[in-house]
Amino acid sequence: MQGTVEDVDVPSASDVLRRCRELVRPALVDAVGRLHPWTGEMAAYSLGWSDTAGTPEPGGSEGKGVRQALALLGAEAVGADAACAVPGAVAVELVHTFSLLHDDVMDADTLRRRRPAVWKAYGTGPAVLAGDALLARAVTGLAETPGHHAAAVRRLCDALNDLVAGQAEDLRFEHRPWDGPGAVGPEEYRSMAEGKTGALLGCALALGAVLGGAPEPTVAALDRAGRHLGLAFQAVDDILGIWGDPATTGKPVHADLHRGKKTHPVLAALAGGSRAARELGTLLASARPTDAAAAERVASLVEEAGGRAATRGEARRHLDAARDALRATPLTRTAARELDVLFAGLADRVM
Ligand code: IPE
Ligand code: MG
Ligand code: MG
Repeated sequence: MQGTVEDVDVPSASDVLRRCRELVRPALVDAVGRLHPWTGEMAAYSLGWSDTAGTPEPGGSEGKGVRQALALLGAEAVGADAACAVPGAVAVELVHTFSLLHDDVMDADTLRRRRPAVWKAYGTGPAVLAGDALLARAVTGLAETPGHHAAAVRRLCDALNDLVAGQAEDLRFEHRPWDGPGAVGPEEYRSMAEGKTGALLGCALALGAVLGGAPEPTVAALDRAGRHLGLAFQAVDDILGIWGDPATTGKPVHADLHRGKKTHPVLAALAGGSRAARELGTLLASARPTDAAAAERVASLVEEAGGRAATRGEARRHLDAARDALRATPLTRTAARELDVLFAGLADRVM
């Protein structure tokens, strides 16, 4: 992303992410080093640090580190040193990694970040255990942090409960019909997406502020900003799941369509009432798209019925709401600008 002349001193989103990853890295390596060697090996694989033989793969398939960056920026935004938020950053990154390990089992997705998912590489039982180990380590690390640790652990636990509830809704929705009285409504979709994706992003920002000693209203505003960011992020993720390039996303395309996931573009398309929407409704009611050609047909009807455009609009609205929540809160100038750049960069993945 290019900065304008006016904010020429503001780093790009990738610069912000890189700086934060470098600050958190030693503590994250230490946390993974405290796991049982076997779960630690799987954790290192899923973090993109090593291959299945345990051989280091520097810069292999590392994630962007969005959540750890939000935690550090949350502290800086309330005038604290980023260092105080490192335990929070480690906790949210470990929870994120745990949630992906278990999510790929639940969604039966075989590929993550261009490599076999952990359950594919090591087996389902080991992958579930590695996820458990990461979760336990995340909570332990935060509980051991001096100062504000009780409020921080509480925040993380609240987010975990929301995440699990969101995942429960996501899975249950697979078995709900596309239309009629049992159909998934927009509010239900929003609650599911806020839980599975928004809660942890909100928690990351809020944890940084808690560890930085911020007052509750500031913490709550940052949590709200992160939740809106999560809804924008999930809308983009839903778009990429249908029209993304697997070479870029590192995940197979159309998996959500094959599983009958109630994603925003499809729900929005069906709500349109056009000829394409009616044809889409009939097609989805008859059977799940099982092969590539059927999924392609569904994807093009969703596009024709306006689902892709509607979901872009949804992402834009939540990005704006996230930015508004930041602007309405007293935050330090540099961190607020970096957060703004980061927020835009994340929603920019398809816009
Ligand atoms: C993942 O949601 C949410 C959690 C891991 C809690 P999705 O299932 O929609 O995300 P991807 O597409 O597999 O990354
Ligand atoms: Mg998934
Ligand atoms: Mg999922």
